[in-house]
Amino acid sequence: MRTFIVLGHRAALTPDFTLNDLPGSAGRLDILCRCVTSAFCLSHGIRRDVMVYLILQNQLMIRLEGARLKHLNPDERSTGALLQKALLAHQEHPESEIESTPGIFISKGALPDGLARVKEKETVYVLHEEGRPIGEIALPQEVAFVLSDHCNFQPDEEALLKDYSRLSLGPRSLHADHCITIVHNQLDRAQFANRTLLV
Ligand SMILES: C[S@@+](CC[C@H](N)C(=O)[O-])C[C@H]1O[C@@H](n2cnc3c(N)ncnc32)[C@H](O)[C@@H]1O
Repeated sequence: MRTFIVLGHRAALTPDFTLNDLPGSAGRLDILCRCVTSAFCLSHGIRRDVMVYLILQNQLMIRLEGARLKHLNPDERSTGALLQKALLAHQEHPESEIESTPGIFISKGALPDGLARVKEKETVYVLHEEGRPIGEIALPQEVAFVLSDHCNFQPDEEALLKDYSRLSLGPRSLHADHCITIVHNQLDRAQFANRTLLV
């Protein structure tokens, strides 16, 4: 399993935003939509061995399970619509985790909840500009990465993440969705070292 935990520091907690303005009215939900696309979308298919946790303002957790995911398309707007449905479902059922559409679950939750779900089975790394170069280590198959949106990690998040190794993807600060693509590429090349093309 490959897991990505993405922190959305200003992302909308309620569904009352317009899909025409994901960056503004939805608090940079466009970034999280692009992360979802990068995490799951192949040229012709969905990566089924992927899990994504979107942590919204350290209050809500949206979990996307590749194995069950349906209706995900590569465009930002339709992904925004799926996340909006999840927020609506949470408004209607705030006390328990609910599956709003196949493979998309929403509940109350913060970074520690996301970490608790993955850290028993997966090795957790923090993607950070100041980390150790990713090429220097052999990544395990069961692996999770924590990354931030357009904001820096906040001090409380840095404190929660201090015991996990930081990995750098290069000398420039990159967009979060591009980081996910690079990580997939790194893992794919290791996993399929002897294959030339997977269709
Ligand atoms: C757009 S960056 C965050 C903002 C950035 N720290 C700044 O100073 O404006 C989004 C996230 O992607 C990850 N990231 C970006 N560049 C990276 C790099 N070169 N190596 C590892 N992770 C990176 C980090 O998790 C970062 O928080």
